[in-house]
Amino acid sequence: MNSRILSVVAVIVTLFSGIVALNSTAVAQQQGEVPGQALGLKSDADLWRFVRTGNAGSVSMKNELGAVMIQSEGDNWRSLRNGPLSTIGGFLIFMMLFVLTMFYMIRGKIRIEKGPSNKTIVRFGSIDRFAHWLMAGSFVVLGLTGLNLLYGRYVILPVIGPEAFSALTTGGKYAHNYLAFAFMIGLALSFVLWVRHNIPTKLDLQWLRMGGGIFKKGVHPPAKKFNAGQKIIFWVTMIGGLSVSLSGIALMFPFQTTMFSDTFALLNTVGLGLPTDFTPMQEQQYNQLWHGLVSLVLIAMIIAHIYIGSVGMEGAIDAMHTGEVDLNWAKEHHNLWVEEEQQRAKSSPSPAE
Ligand code: HEM
Repeated sequence: MNSRILSVVAVIVTLFSGIVALNSTAVAQQQGEVPGQALGLKSDADLWRFVRTGNAGSVSMKNELGAVMIQSEGDNWRSLRNGPLSTIGGFLIFMMLFVLTMFYMIRGKIRIEKGPSNKTIVRFGSIDRFAHWLMAGSFVVLGLTGLNLLYGRYVILPVIGPEAFSALTTGGKYAHNYLAFAFMIGLALSFVLWVRHNIPTKLDLQWLRMGGGIFKKGVHPPAKKFNAGQKIIFWVTMIGGLSVSLSGIALMFPFQTTMFSDTFALLNTVGLGLPTDFTPMQEQQYNQLWHGLVSLVLIAMIIAHIYIGSVGMEGAIDAMHTGEVDLNWAKEHHNLWVEEEQQRAKSSPSPAE
């Protein structure tokens, strides 16, 4: 009899202590504590260190990334994106707008000094203008929709509210993804059409030494079809545009590329000891940061280009509008190109009358 009572008491005590243990685990979890006594021989600290440093366990899913429980580099990526990247980008763009406003107030519009001659010279054919506007139009939409992704929630969301912002951002995201291809085509076409005029020469040093003649009236450094300033814009657009395109494609098709580890491995061949063992997730994070940084630099530079190609310089926009510019404008800004063109016209047989 005694032994039966003892057995019943033992079962009750066991059940009770089990319930207490379960309950205390639940309470601990609710309070954000790590449940204990579930790890066998491994200590809690070891296990959570393993998880927190982004190590992969094993999963039976096809998606290997699912084996990483806590992807700690995401914290660093987020704080870089929302911190220095956004701040530096915003600063760059505001500085550019400020400098251009000051320049306009002090120097004013750069006029054709001799006044319009009312004679024109062909500067860009229709294929050049098509390439330019394909690249420019798509870039402007890509720039605005990209800026919305980075700053929209702080600048636009409070003004138009969550529903309109959500529709705007979703539409913007589609536009961004599809117009990227128009930009790439425009970029490639512009490269093919203009690269031969953008090879650096000694003349460019003289143009740069004279500040391009844009700061003082009456100063006109010699230049061929493109001056040194335009060559800089050309090469930054081409190299930056290619880089933004490649990183953009990597973002569109996630976890398929190893561009950063490959590039760093290449740089390591000249002795830079850069890390090359990135996880697919880290590759994505670097792609995003690089895509954002290069785009912000390009946007700031293109704002200056748009200024000088439109309100900043009399007669410039005609080059990309009708394709013909005033002869006096051409002589003031691209004198050697005008001479070359006139020479070519003389030496080519004139059409029969
Ligand atoms: C949206 C406003 C824009 C305007 C009003 C504009 C205007 C112009 C003009 C007038 C020219 C010819 C300059 C000349 O005759 O020498 C030109 C050339 C050029 N544009 Fe644009 N453009 C714009 C946007 C863009 C964008 C977004 C890009 C690149 C993403 C771009 C890239 C270029 C390049 C590479 C050249 C040849 C080099 C140079 O002249 O700087 N443009 N643009």
